[in-house]
Amino acid sequence: MESGIITMAGWLSIFIWSVLVMSAQVHGDQLIDITFLKSAIPKGAVCLDGSPPAYSYFEGYGNGSNSWIVYLQSGGWCSSKIDCYNRSTTPRGSTYPFIGNQTNFSGLLDTNSTFNPDFYNWHKVYIYYCDGSSFMSDIKHVDPRTNVTYRGARIFKVVMEELLSKGMGNAQNAMLVGTSAGAMTTTLHCDKFRKLFQKNSRVKCVSDSGFIIHGKGLLGDHYREKYYADVIRTHGLRKSLPKSCTSKMNPNLCLFPEYYVGDIQTPLFLLESAFDAFQIEYNTLPAVGGRLGWSNCLGNLRHCNSTQLGIMRDFRNTFIGALLKLKHSLSRGMFVHSCYLHGHILIIQEWTCSSLQGNNILANKTIAQAISDWYFDRTSFRQIDVENDLPRNCSSSLTPELFVHKCLATLSTHPTCSYS
Ligand SMILES: *[C@@H]1O[C@H](CO)[C@@H](O)[C@H](O)[C@H]1NC(C)=O
Ligand SMILES: *[C@@H]1O[C@H](CO)[C@@H](O)[C@H](O)[C@H]1NC(C)=O
Ligand SMILES: *[C@@H]1O[C@H](CO)[C@@H](O)[C@H](O)[C@H]1NC(C)=O
Ligand SMILES: *[C@@H]1O[C@H](CO)[C@@H](O)[C@H](O)[C@H]1NC(C)=O
Ligand SMILES: *[C@@H]1O[C@H](CO)[C@@H](O)[C@H](O)[C@H]1NC(C)=O
Ligand SMILES: *[C@@H]1O[C@H](CO)[C@@H](O)[C@H](O)[C@H]1NC(C)=O
Ligand SMILES: *[C@@H]1O[C@H](CO)[C@@H](O)[C@H](O)[C@H]1NC(C)=O
Ligand SMILES: *[C@@H]1O[C@H](CO)[C@@H](O)[C@H](O)[C@H]1NC(C)=O
Ligand SMILES: *[C@@H]1O[C@H](CO)[C@@H](O)[C@H](O)[C@H]1NC(C)=O
Repeated sequence: MESGIITMAGWLSIFIWSVLVMSAQVHGDQLIDITFLKSAIPKGAVCLDGSPPAYSYFEGYGNGSNSWIVYLQSGGWCSSKIDCYNRSTTPRGSTYPFIGNQTNFSGLLDTNSTFNPDFYNWHKVYIYYCDGSSFMSDIKHVDPRTNVTYRGARIFKVVMEELLSKGMGNAQNAMLVGTSAGAMTTTLHCDKFRKLFQKNSRVKCVSDSGFIIHGKGLLGDHYREKYYADVIRTHGLRKSLPKSCTSKMNPNLCLFPEYYVGDIQTPLFLLESAFDAFQIEYNTLPAVGGRLGWSNCLGNLRHCNSTQLGIMRDFRNTFIGALLKLKHSLSRGMFVHSCYLHGHILIIQEWTCSSLQGNNILANKTIAQAISDWYFDRTSFRQIDVENDLPRNCSSSLTPELFVHKCLATLSTHPTCSYS
């Protein structure tokens, strides 16, 4: 029960947070209509509450007309029948009527070339997350007690078919990308996504804060084992988990990217904080009674005491250790910084400007520059901040307006942002 409450609060805080960040956007609105895919209903490809899947689509143009970005929304998981029933009454389990009818496109999805020079004119799709299983579930029967449906995998399939019907299959360039639970969706579906395209097209995946660790031996490991095993059981995922993992270890551990990411064939970029705020707060602290005694520290890192910093440092060391243990791959990119954050890619401060008090820049590159260089094979990019072993507060003290103004001024005169 307790785990369910924490999870609910977890995604809720992420949701509220992302709304706040979005409304802080300071340049022209880029509101893209939401399409409700009603034709998916007879195929049983529906959200937890039976509502249709939904996405927003911006049509590419110019030299972007043969290039596609498919973005997968964040929002945690549900880990029991009751938890999923509760979720089915929220915007992360239903597209009706909560999610409105337009989506704000920003960050990687920004359609303004000033803010997003490499991708502004690509076809862009934002897929809403409403199944609570990272689009992995496919249970035939509706739960008779709650009327909840577990059909994430069908949603993924049907939405991909819809995009193929818009011409996505002919793309020369394509990127599958998601944040948090959407990043886990990205890594779990990456090789399948690749198969939708021709052999000679450039298809890559980007995981934005989705390297959710098991971290055996690290505080909270039993909590994490139980929680993700509960997700697997609730959604009936045993059969659909990556075979490369289930064939060699306890399948209940096979939602943890550290056990399957090494076997992904398609080029993958991991954009992560070594002090991932979600993982520290919701996957580690439950072992010491949750976030309650921690509000001072989590609200302002300067107030963390030595015990708390020690727990965060242990997390960071285990996290980096898990990344370094991955099977080597030349095509894999990494941007692993030390700012206390979770999720980057839709946030102008992070994507375009790399959030800057203290400069969240690695090897002199912003996140956008690092990912573009890697995507277009201009250079490889594998950077882990090994210098800072304490979490950094990288939020700017500037107002969003001033921040973006300064960022733009800097971007136009220097190739990289550099200011505070
Ligand atoms: C999009 O962001 C703008 C601020 O830039 C805000 O006024 C608007 O309400 C947002 N729209 C949606 C649908 O969230
Ligand atoms: C489109 O053209 C711009 C400007 O010449 C260039 O920076 C960008 O990389 C091109 N995009 C693609 C997908 O070729
Ligand atoms: C589901 O919601 C009810 C009512 O808000 C709450 O009492 C219960 O704790 C929730 N259960 C879970 C597992 O989240
Ligand atoms: C969006 O929703 C509002 C209210 O829910 C409605 O008045 C408006 O017509 C809708 N817009 C579109 C484009 O469907
Ligand atoms: C892009 O943003 C810049 C800076 O805010 C603005 O001056 C410009 O008009 C925008 N371009 C478009 C096409 O909206
Ligand atoms: C499930 O759906 C049926 C038929 O629409 C309805 O009668 C029943 O009350 C629903 N049960 C729950 C728990 O919502
Ligand atoms: C730090 O704060 C935590 C949570 O309030 C507390 O449990 C712990 O004992 C404190 N440690 C020190 C060294 O003060
Ligand atoms: C980061 O610094 C800002 C401004 O100094 C402060 O308001 C905020 O609470 C800090 N956040 C964290 C997580 O430390
Ligand atoms: C980053 O740029 C600064 C000044 O332009 C230079 O001194 C420094 O060597 C560069 N660092 C790296 C890692 O390229």
